[in-house]
Amino acid sequence: MRRILIATSNPGKLRDFAGAALLHGVEVRGIPDFSSLPGVVEDGLTFEANARKKAGAYSRYVPGEIVVADDSGLEIDALHGAPGVHSARYAAPDVHGKEPHQADANTHDEANNARVLRELKDVPFGKRTGRFVCVLSAARDGKTLGTFRGTAEGIILEAPRGTNGFGYDPLFYFPKIKKTFAELSAEEKSKYSHRGKAFGALLAWLDDLPRENRRG
Ligand code: IMP
Repeated sequence: MRRILIATSNPGKLRDFAGAALLHGVEVRGIPDFSSLPGVVEDGLTFEANARKKAGAYSRYVPGEIVVADDSGLEIDALHGAPGVHSARYAAPDVHGKEPHQADANTHDEANNARVLRELKDVPFGKRTGRFVCVLSAARDGKTLGTFRGTAEGIILEAPRGTNGFGYDPLFYFPKIKKTFAELSAEEKSKYSHRGKAFGALLAWLDDLPRENRRG
């Protein structure tokens, strides 16, 4: 069975990947002892830059393995693309002279969602459009092998709905099936989500990879 290692400590993301991989016969594992490895500063201006940086850096700790890193977030049109690459720390206080990525830690999902609702307070339903974006980068021994992007278009609600998922899921209404992402099962989320689409592209690439280049 083919194997890839995912560079994440986010159980929500690991669940999303495992669901999609099952359908493709690919074994997905976390990087052993991931939480004890030195963190990578996510100071890129794009999802691509951050995903490549993370995959490249973490792959050096597991020689010969294909390591996949994800950078993802929510882009809201009425907020000129915010929270974007700062999605995980959107509720961090603005500290003079500090960029948002230099915030001491990620902020809680509830606080991030509350800030989105505050910023969109006066924005009518028809203008609350946005998208989740996910970029996956695969690397081996510090070298980028491929980069894959997926998006999901939706509308930001005025109040949360649903209890599944994580992050901004309860606010993200997906018109295609008239549910928020927090109302989707794991299977539905891997079918429709930005992460599921990017992962589908990565799995197709993995299928085409010459056998001697695969591990597992
Ligand atoms: P990252 O770990 O730097 O990629 O941070 C991504 C952040 O974007 C997460 O902490 C969430 O706040 C948000 N996000 C990314 N993907 C999703 C998703 O599938 N659902 C809800 N929120 C997401």
